Amino acid sequence: MNAKQLVGEKATEYIQDGMIVGLGTGSTAYWAIQKIGQLVKEGLKIKGVPTSKATEQLANELNIPLLDVSEVRSIDVTIDGADEFDPNKQLIKGGGGALLREKIVARISKVFICIADANKSSEFLGSYPLPVEVTPFAYQITAYQLEQLGCKPTLRMKDDKPYITDNQNYIIDCKFERIDNPSELTVLLNQIPGVVENGLFANIATKIICNTEDGGIEVIE
Ligand code: A5P
Repeated sequence: MNAKQLVGEKATEYIQDGMIVGLGTGSTAYWAIQKIGQLVKEGLKIKGVPTSKATEQLANELNIPLLDVSEVRSIDVTIDGADEFDPNKQLIKGGGGALLREKIVARISKVFICIADANKSSEFLGSYPLPVEVTPFAYQITAYQLEQLGCKPTLRMKDDKPYITDNQNYIIDCKFERIDNPSELTVLLNQIPGVVENGLFANIATKIICNTEDGGIEVIE
């Protein structure tokens, strides 16, 4: 079993009958969703809330009953991946472009379980370029203002065109040297008018489940 499958399946042990479950996005969340699909087939009664169109499609293929996020005010547990995490469970997310929906779902989740390869662990966040979702309108001004915060901004591209999110926005990937205070930087980023949301998940994760070198699992509480 690969590391992503191992941690993804482990996280599903926190799901119980009757729960509303946030379904993350990405190649690690994929394995958790596959396992949830299997458990639903075996009789587990849950309702899922997808964090992207891709996850919604996957959940539908697996016959996982879904709720639209507009129908819920609180989620029992969300399982989602990350691109980088530090020892304080602060995360960078959005490598897959789903950060806005992921953060909306995460913010109303009572428990947020992050599942990640151990090689995404860093002493300080910043090795991974921070994804920032921005409005297409005047994105050049937004990129300039992001640069003023001390990063090197790059507009994310796909097939020679700007990458478009599920919410019809752009992503600017911001390479900071080192992010010492994710909560403070979140406020600064979100004060820029063209910024819709940023991929820093500060003080959101309840626990991180990652693999260990010897093929085991570590749960960081
Ligand atoms: C999606 O936008 C992201 O936040 C993903 O959760 C994150 O990039 C982790 O993805 P992988 O599990 O594919 O590495």
